[in-house]
Amino acid sequence: MDVSFSAKQIAPSATLAINELITTIREKGEKIYHMGFGESPFPVHPLVRKALCENSWRQRYLPVQGIVELREKIAEFYKAMFDLEYAPGQIIVGPGSKPLMFAAFTALDGPIFLPAPSWVSYQHMGRFLSRDVHHIVTHSEDSYRLQPDLLELALRAHSPDRNQQKVLALNYPCNPTGHTFSSQELRELSDVARDYNVVIVSDEIYALTHFRDHKHHSIAKFYPEGTLITGGLSKDRSLGGYRLGTLLIPPDEKQLLRSILAVGSEVWSSVSAPIQYAGIEAYRTDTKLVDYMRDCAMVHEMVTKYTYQRIHDMGVSCPCPQGAFYLFPDWNSKKEALQKERVTTSSELAKHLLKNWFLASLPGSEFGMPPDDLSLRLATVDYDGASAIESFRRRRKSAIKDPEGFVLSIAPSVVEGCNQLERFTSQLN
Ligand SMILES: Cc1ncc(COP(=O)(O)O)c(C=O)c1O
Repeated sequence: MDVSFSAKQIAPSATLAINELITTIREKGEKIYHMGFGESPFPVHPLVRKALCENSWRQRYLPVQGIVELREKIAEFYKAMFDLEYAPGQIIVGPGSKPLMFAAFTALDGPIFLPAPSWVSYQHMGRFLSRDVHHIVTHSEDSYRLQPDLLELALRAHSPDRNQQKVLALNYPCNPTGHTFSSQELRELSDVARDYNVVIVSDEIYALTHFRDHKHHSIAKFYPEGTLITGGLSKDRSLGGYRLGTLLIPPDEKQLLRSILAVGSEVWSSVSAPIQYAGIEAYRTDTKLVDYMRDCAMVHEMVTKYTYQRIHDMGVSCPCPQGAFYLFPDWNSKKEALQKERVTTSSELAKHLLKNWFLASLPGSEFGMPPDDLSLRLATVDYDGASAIESFRRRRKSAIKDPEGFVLSIAPSVVEGCNQLERFTSQLN
């Protein structure tokens, strides 16, 4: 059969594809060091499970925008956690933040700007919609943070008419680099965005996975009229499979709201009824779930920082993460040695590591980096989340005092993955 032009613009998601490949390899009983896919491994909190069970009888379609009770809870959540004021009418609930983002890109006019590196899906969504997609290459010296002058240069180069609307996707804490922004940096970015008529789709799905020495600020604080925030339950509450995401839009954007809901109504109708009701529990801020989220974030922090330290000690360049559960090292300093192994692109590097070192990763090119930049995205979640969080809660003080000892005990596969990366790197010297 003939495949349509728009379908040809996209490939299956690289992150999901690597996960499926690894599952197949593991099913054959072969050893693999899995740093390819990042899913938060912690169990569903009992309060949310209970709410889901109690609501399993609900079988009806619900409103496209999401039930009011849930949207009210989400509004309270954003106020309590981030001091942001959103009315329930400004909130849309969807089956994950991904389709909501797609609906937002569909509804918003203008070319799409993406920092490079940035999460794999934005560029494919843009291309699927036949939009111009422009990557703004950021620098490892800045921990890949988008700098206001780089943003301005890119806007001027690709879209000189200041009045024409543009769209910028900004994700922090960031997948793939783990960086986030200070409030001052966000303020500076928002100044440029306002000047150049840029709508920011602010992907804050990792907001509450920030590490202890950082606080999450939203760019919506400085640019409320031009920011859409996406979020959901997938990361901080480890509920990716529940498929519940949120989109918060500025007040008085009635046409935008109508258009996004139109996409939702024609494509997914509504988030499943039991999940919306369980979501009410998952968005409460007056239960033990909030402590649970913090504890899970702390385990992420310890494992991710341990992995970062190991990579750093190998002499490999890698920005220090401030949240989420990923790292973005690069082997650019080993270009010559790698060339001898016929590795000249990040894609070849990822394949080489999988084939010869049984280590799964994702190439930087999937995240918009130039192909010959030898960067990889590594995920740090290949461990048993249930026993890790149980162990953390049992010996919190000693875990915080000796994070390395804690990681060695709860995440042996991650440690083995680091050992394998070290063997690979040292033979390049
Ligand atoms: C940066 C980023 N944004 C969005 C998503 C999608 O999350 P959701 O499960 O809400 O669709 C992911 C998930 O992998 C992500 O890493």
